Amino acid sequence: MSKVTTIFFSPSGTTKKVVNQIANNFEGETVICDLLYFNGEKEFSREDIVIVGMPVFAGRIPKTARDRLSKLTGDDTKAIAVVNYGNAHVTDALIELVDLLKESNFDVVAAASTISHHSIFDGVAVGRPDEADIEKINEFSQNAIERIENGSSIEAEVPGNRPYVDYKQLPFVVSCDDSKCVFCLECVSVCPERAIPDDDPADVDLDLCSRCTSCINICPENARGFTGEAFEAKKPAFESANAERKEPEFYY
Ligand SMILES: Cc1cc2nc3c(=O)[nH]c(=O)nc-3n(C[C@H](O)[C@H](O)[C@H](O)COP(=O)(O)O)c2cc1C
Repeated sequence: MSKVTTIFFSPSGTTKKVVNQIANNFEGETVICDLLYFNGEKEFSREDIVIVGMPVFAGRIPKTARDRLSKLTGDDTKAIAVVNYGNAHVTDALIELVDLLKESNFDVVAAASTISHHSIFDGVAVGRPDEADIEKINEFSQNAIERIENGSSIEAEVPGNRPYVDYKQLPFVVSCDDSKCVFCLECVSVCPERAIPDDDPADVDLDLCSRCTSCINICPENARGFTGEAFEAKKPAFESANAERKEPEFYY
């Protein structure tokens, strides 16, 4: 039986949840490749199957995640590609992910965009993925399994344009409440950009920081979060502009 590997970058945990849900539809054991931590090379064989999930950051897959994913290569390895976004816009992230996987010699059989709770603006897509999403994701997984068994590759055009939109650094400040921080340094370990110094976790290097939210989500004291004028000013307008429910899309 083929070995299934889940490959994901999931600072706030929802992309991991979607990828795991797809993996649950396969029989047998799953190997995990968490790109928040793994930054090495790996080669997959033509007997392997990979399920690759990326969050959408400003219409792209996150740069750090892209760099890490680029070090993984296939050998005509069957791949399922998923981008997970916060009910705003996918823009070029899915086409970028499918392109990158093909360039690295993966055989993409199916692709999807799914919606999850917005990891910056917490009033958007609250509670997603929900039961209705999970049902659709399971149906997609079954279709993908059938395609793998039949040896079919993706035929549909996925949405997005080339060249992809430029990377955009969000102007929001990630801050740390000194009175709550207990110097456990979990944020220092998880930060994929190494933007948090271990002698002062409150002193984030905002030029390096991608605002991925991994430090906010790992903090056991709830000491970290977005603050500042730019964030407070954007939040209400962003939440009302993206209040209408979007649905996952599937491509074969
Ligand atoms: C830096 C950053 C940029 C984001 N940009 C977008 C975006 O362009 N479109 C969108 O719909 N959601 C956007 N989001 C929301 C995430 O794509 C969404 O919350 C996703 O589910 C996060 O995945 P995770 O839980 O695996 O971290 C952004 C989130 C972050 C942290």
